Amino acid sequence: MQLTKEQQKMLDGEAGEAPAQAMQILAALGKIYGAENMIPISSAQVSGVSYETIGDAGLEYLQDYASKNAKVKTLTFLNPAGMDRDQYEKMDVPSDFAKKQIQILDAFKSMGITMSCTCAPYHIGIRPKVGEHIAWAESSAVAFANSVLGARTNREGGPSALAAAITGFTPNYGLHLDENRLAGIIIEVEATPKTTADFGAMGSYLGKKIKSKIPAFTNLNFAPEIKLKTLGASMAATGSTALFYIKNITPEFMVKENAEKLTFTQEELIYHKKELNCGEKPDLVTIGCPHASLEEIKEVANLIKGKKLACKLWVCCAKKTKDLASEHGFTKIIEEAGGNVVADTCMVVSPLRQMGYSCTACNSGKAAKYLSSLQKQKVVFGDVEDILLCD
Ligand code: F3S
Repeated sequence: MQLTKEQQKMLDGEAGEAPAQAMQILAALGKIYGAENMIPISSAQVSGVSYETIGDAGLEYLQDYASKNAKVKTLTFLNPAGMDRDQYEKMDVPSDFAKKQIQILDAFKSMGITMSCTCAPYHIGIRPKVGEHIAWAESSAVAFANSVLGARTNREGGPSALAAAITGFTPNYGLHLDENRLAGIIIEVEATPKTTADFGAMGSYLGKKIKSKIPAFTNLNFAPEIKLKTLGASMAATGSTALFYIKNITPEFMVKENAEKLTFTQEELIYHKKELNCGEKPDLVTIGCPHASLEEIKEVANLIKGKKLACKLWVCCAKKTKDLASEHGFTKIIEEAGGNVVADTCMVVSPLRQMGYSCTACNSGKAAKYLSSLQKQKVVFGDVEDILLCD
């Protein structure tokens, strides 16, 4: 791989121990994937933030980096943490967990990382343009950035995204190259998905079915951004989708000449939506996977205004979005009904089992998968108005 003088100096340790360590990771990745050079990135998103997912080994890794005076060179932000820093006691997060989570966040902060922990950075103004190279790690954000925004990113791991943030570069391979961005399968949508749960169910099924192929959807005429984030998140969770196209909607639509074809029918949608449901009475309802937009929080507030919820409710979002929701009065409405707007965390990366939850409701295909597989929850899956049970 051709390195510039600046990159070679980093690799040789002339810029310090942390950039050298980071450049070694990137050079090794570039070699594995046959990258010819490294390219500058305009932002990085680092995953592996929750103590629930990285544990003590991850914390030590980050503290070691921080002790080597690691500093990021580009706009860098984080995936959701294991708790809302402003209200972890109210959420009943165990104190040992909270202590470790704060140490993780402190390590990231010392590297100059923006303390925004969200899987939906595009809801708080971080929206790279078509063709812009970035290094993001959260799979749903990767799918959104590549597909809906037209940016270029591989599906980074936590360490490679952090290495890209520290050096400002990423190896030029995979989805950074146009020749690797052609769809291999056309999905003719005969179904009429409307709700977030519909798009989540469709994505969950198709992710499993198409695995790593890039899909190009045709005949999907209703596909607002907040539904596309759910579609991408679900396909990324059950398959490995990092890019998809929607005819006449996404900024790009590039398909191989010999692409396969698949249809998705209304009957399949109904069947797969039901299939995600394996619980009965939730003790926690969760909305916001990926993190909720202001519009989605408003929708929840309107649905429960003046009512009392039958169980706990978390509406997960970025801290900045929560601040806006509070300004608009939505947070107060949700709290008065017995719910909570939780910031910079989510249902999948918080210590749900330790907090005593065993049956969780959601309207997201990605949450449905990980709540059951990682958090061992019974899952109640459905449309937002159906899972928000009120007395
Ligand atoms: Fe985001 Fe957590 Fe879902 S990170 S995409 S809300 S699993």
